[in-house]
Amino acid sequence: MGRVYDATWGRGFAALYDFFFKSVEEAGLRDMRRELLSEARGRTIDIGSGTGANLELYPADVELTMAEPDPHMTRQLRGKLAESDREVEFVAAGAESLPFEDASFDTAVFTLVLCTVPEPRAALDEVARVLKPGGRMLFLEHVRAEDPGLARWQDRLEKPWRFVGDGCHCNRDTVATIESSPLRLEQVERDRLPKAPPITRPLARGSAVRASA
Ligand SMILES: C[S@@+](CC[C@H](N)C(=O)[O-])C[C@H]1O[C@@H](n2cnc3c(N)ncnc32)[C@H](O)[C@@H]1O
Repeated sequence: MGRVYDATWGRGFAALYDFFFKSVEEAGLRDMRRELLSEARGRTIDIGSGTGANLELYPADVELTMAEPDPHMTRQLRGKLAESDREVEFVAAGAESLPFEDASFDTAVFTLVLCTVPEPRAALDEVARVLKPGGRMLFLEHVRAEDPGLARWQDRLEKPWRFVGDGCHCNRDTVATIESSPLRLEQVERDRLPKAPPITRPLARGSAVRASA
């Protein structure tokens, strides 16, 4: 978003993120996260971990890596990691270029991230590379509305929302992007992000799999 933005609102956004999301988490987002993350298995990478909202919600036997490119988010995340009993590997990396060998992970997770990454398709290509054959990508993302009227509002408000939301694109058809990627969409459920502004309410959660070779 630019250096001045990053040093001012970008920094504030990260500091206030948990506060902004508190009522959304309590109204159901945390339960949705927990349900999704209960499907994580084995070596797992949480991509765009932000302030670490998912940290304590993974099953105890998951071997967890968290990747986050934003230094302000990372500061919040490091605070949570320091207080946690979990052993977590942290990498300062964006989804489009993960510092891991091919076929390294059993599970990859995106929660509220594909709305913000600059190149979602490149991110999915990279996830397909680091997932083992048969490995699964779990997602929970706010997405483009199926209702054309709301989708038009998402298009109209995309730019100002991107400014307020630290680079978040409220009108992305993330399910279509997953379908166009090397991953095979396994399941998708449409839902609503509780207590969120209408343009960020339509939600998609589910999984996609990296085909076995
Ligand atoms: C709305 S926050 C979601 C954070 C967290 N996953 C959650 O569920 O609360 C979006 C996150 O995506 C991160 N992000 C932005 N660009 C990214 C990229 N290229 N690769 C990975 N993460 C990115 C942001 O820094 C931010 O932490």
